Amino acid sequence: MTEMMTALFGGAGPDWETRQVPVPKPGPGQVLVRARAVSLNNADVQMLAAADPASGSRQEYLAGFEFAGEIAALGEGAGGVRLGERVMGTTQGAFAQYVLADHRHVIAVPAGIADEDASALPTGLLTEHGALTLGDFQPGQSVLITGATSSIGLIGIQIAKSLGAGTVIATTRTESKKDLLTDAGADCVIATASQDLTGLVLDATDGQGADLVLDHVGGQTFADCLPATRVDGRIVNIGRLDQAESTINLDALSYRHLRIAGVSFGFSRPDELGHVIAALAHQVLPAVADGRIRPVIDSVLPFGQAKEAANRMRSGRAHGKIILTVP
Ligand SMILES: NC(=O)c1ccc[n+]([C@@H]2O[C@H](COP(=O)([O-])OP(=O)(O)OC[C@H]3O[C@@H](n4cnc5c(N)ncnc54)[C@H](OP(=O)(O)O)[C@@H]3O)[C@@H](O)[C@H]2O)c1
Repeated sequence: MTEMMTALFGGAGPDWETRQVPVPKPGPGQVLVRARAVSLNNADVQMLAAADPASGSRQEYLAGFEFAGEIAALGEGAGGVRLGERVMGTTQGAFAQYVLADHRHVIAVPAGIADEDASALPTGLLTEHGALTLGDFQPGQSVLITGATSSIGLIGIQIAKSLGAGTVIATTRTESKKDLLTDAGADCVIATASQDLTGLVLDATDGQGADLVLDHVGGQTFADCLPATRVDGRIVNIGRLDQAESTINLDALSYRHLRIAGVSFGFSRPDELGHVIAALAHQVLPAVADGRIRPVIDSVLPFGQAKEAANRMRSGRAHGKIILTVP
């Protein structure tokens, strides 16, 4: 193994900067992964903006969250994987040739899944399955997914269908992205810029509302979900693509006996996140292995084009995941 590696750092300018840094050594319970592909999340460009020296914190950090590659070294007590095994996972500091991760936060890559595809899966799988679980999802239930063209929302549609959801209703603001949602398996698609979210969800659910909502948008969209949720239904907030503040009607909440929860797995304790990831093994990974769940890939770029990748994500025009191949 080499001594030095190439890695992308935020906080040095408006975009990631390439640095040569020492290859880290895995500590207790950690694995070192030789990354082959990494993928972008919305949080990556948010963090870049927050650390931009022109306006933000100037705090430099090793960037990235999602990766796929093979196990290059095991720290003391790290189990469940072996040297050379292909894994995908999530950790802070993934945009590097060698990635340190908690051994509980890597997942064996099912056979036949390429590194680029594998790198696009972990966040979507764990977040959407974790939210469905928190929302007590049961087969046959209807699920409303807002901001469903987001990379993780597209995975959420596929997980819900593979677990036996009844009607899956998906929203986008953008008329031209409706096919993306239908192709991912949504039964009903709502373009919120021109269509009424609440009314159309009620139409699609015999006037009852969805059993469970996975909300990636927040703001007014979150408020509109309450009267679109059936009596005794659940709403799980996952993202705030629009905004974190939302003014809700408490009558809609109370008269419908709704339960509202939030998740942010990036802020979970390591063992809690380990449990969420472990739960994928039986219910979700078989569907990845047999092709019922596939990442939607917008583009695959070389590591050296990280700036173009960030700009593509900022543009809002991406259809699915943006991947960087690691040299
Ligand atoms: N809870 C967790 O643990 C967790 C984990 C991962 C991500 N997240 C959060 O989940 C969200 C999605 O993440 P991602 O990386 O999958 O996102 P992403 O792929 O970057 O999402 C892009 C999509 O967001 C939609 N969008 C952008 N601005 C919007 C706005 N103002 N209102 C409504 N929709 C908007 C656009 O869809 P249209 O053009 O089709 O409307 C766009 O296609 C983010 O808020 C992220 O922070 C949460």
